[in-house]
Amino acid sequence: MKAAVIGHPVAHSKSPRIHQYWLEKYGIKGSYEAIDIAPENLESGIERLAAQGYNGFNVTLPHKEAMLELCDELDDSAREIGAVNTVKIENERFYGSNTDAFGFIENLKQTQRDFNFKDANVFILGAGGAARAAIYGLKQAGVSNITLCNRTEERAAELAAEFDCGVAEWKDRSRLEGFSLLVNTTSLGMSGKEALEIDIGALSLDATVYDIVYAPLLTDLLIAAQDQGNKIVTGIGMLLHQARPAFKLWTGIMPEVTSELEKLVLS
Ligand code: ATR
Repeated sequence: MKAAVIGHPVAHSKSPRIHQYWLEKYGIKGSYEAIDIAPENLESGIERLAAQGYNGFNVTLPHKEAMLELCDELDDSAREIGAVNTVKIENERFYGSNTDAFGFIENLKQTQRDFNFKDANVFILGAGGAARAAIYGLKQAGVSNITLCNRTEERAAELAAEFDCGVAEWKDRSRLEGFSLLVNTTSLGMSGKEALEIDIGALSLDATVYDIVYAPLLTDLLIAAQDQGNKIVTGIGMLLHQARPAFKLWTGIMPEVTSELEKLVLS
């Protein structure tokens, strides 16, 4: 396997650790490195990877949307999420996919085995790329009731129209009566970012609270949820699980997420 993650900047990416761990664990010869490609060099950069015999690559900021146009083929996930995070190269052709929705859902399934998707009533904070992946994944998993709540309400309204969701005003984000899953897809609460100001007192104690932020692993939102007695889902599993279908695409092996890998990535 010869693969990489491309981005700008990309040095912070956790993907090399994850894929290098699996290469070693499954005894596969190969390499996976982080390659910085500036936006103006994206097209020539990926052509060079193809010429150098790469099987594929992951795509991180700021190239996820630009990569849509550069792929020869897209699968449904990439097309509907409107972003590419995984590319397979075959015969110098680029096949684009998006594994973020898989990562989002798989993390929820693995940590909350009895989560009821069919009857779920989901409240999502945010309307960016991460929200799109979460909504697409939830819809694929059979969820029909989703409400979007975003600071910039037009963004929430656009996304809601596209995916048939409800909209709540940002100032009403603490009105959480009746929801079974609360998801934070914003960057609020991340180390170095502003705090997420929300009162989850109205949330049912049966509800699950899912924060896709993983630095810190236990965000203030998750600490409040835990204190209140809600089930919680941390963001690290989404990062780990989204990498699995990419590894499979390049090697044929669907790798496992282990606690050892989780520790390695968090260290
Ligand atoms: P990503 O692709 O990671 O989701 P993004 O598209 O920049 O990134 O989206 C970031 C999300 O965090 C958005 O929903 C953004 O709200 P806006 O659409 O109003 O920008 C939200 N966000 C970021 N900073 C915020 C803040 N200070 N207050 C409220 N929401 C914020």
